[in-house]
Amino acid sequence: MDTKSTSSSGTAALKTPSSLGTNAVRDVSGAFNALLADTFALYMKTKNFHWHVSGPHFRDYHLLLDEQASQIFATTDTIAERVRKLGGSTLRSIGHVARLQSIKDNDAEFVTPLDMLAELREDNAQLVARMRETHGVCDVHSDVAGASLLENWIGEAEGRIWFLFEASRRGNSGE
Ligand SMILES: [Fe+2]
Repeated sequence: MDTKSTSSSGTAALKTPSSLGTNAVRDVSGAFNALLADTFALYMKTKNFHWHVSGPHFRDYHLLLDEQASQIFATTDTIAERVRKLGGSTLRSIGHVARLQSIKDNDAEFVTPLDMLAELREDNAQLVARMRETHGVCDVHSDVAGASLLENWIGEAEGRIWFLFEASRRGNSGE
C-alpha cells in the first residue's frame, strides 16, 4: 500500500468488501453505532449502580447488576464488528459514545436501590426500542444477519427487564 496515504485513501483502506449497497452500509452502520453508544452507556450505568448500591438487599442487587453488566458488555464487540464487517467505521472513544448516546448518565451522589432498579428497567426498555428500530433498518436492507443478532439481544434485554421488575417488587412488599 502507498505509504503516502491521504486521509481519504485511509478511509478507503477501511472499506471491507460487502454485498450490501452503499446506502445499506451507511444506514445499518449508523443504526448499529447509535445502538453501541447506548449499550456502553447502559453498561456503565449498570456498573455504577453495582458499585454504589447499598441497603439490606445489597448482595442480591450487587450480584444481579454485575450479571446484567456482563451480559450487556458481551454484546459490544459483536455490535462494533458487525459494523466493520459491513465496511463501516465504528466508535473510537468514550467521547464518541457521549456524542451518540441517548440513554442518560446518572451522576447523582446517592440513588435509592429501588430508584436504581426502576431507572435501569426504563433504560433497558429504551434499548429494546432502539434495537427494534435497528431491526427495521436491517429489514429494509435485507441484512438478515444483523437482524438475527438483534433478535437475540432483544430477548436478553427483556430478561433483564423481567429481573429488574421482580427484584423491585420484593422491595415494594415492605419487608
Ligand atoms: Fe464488581
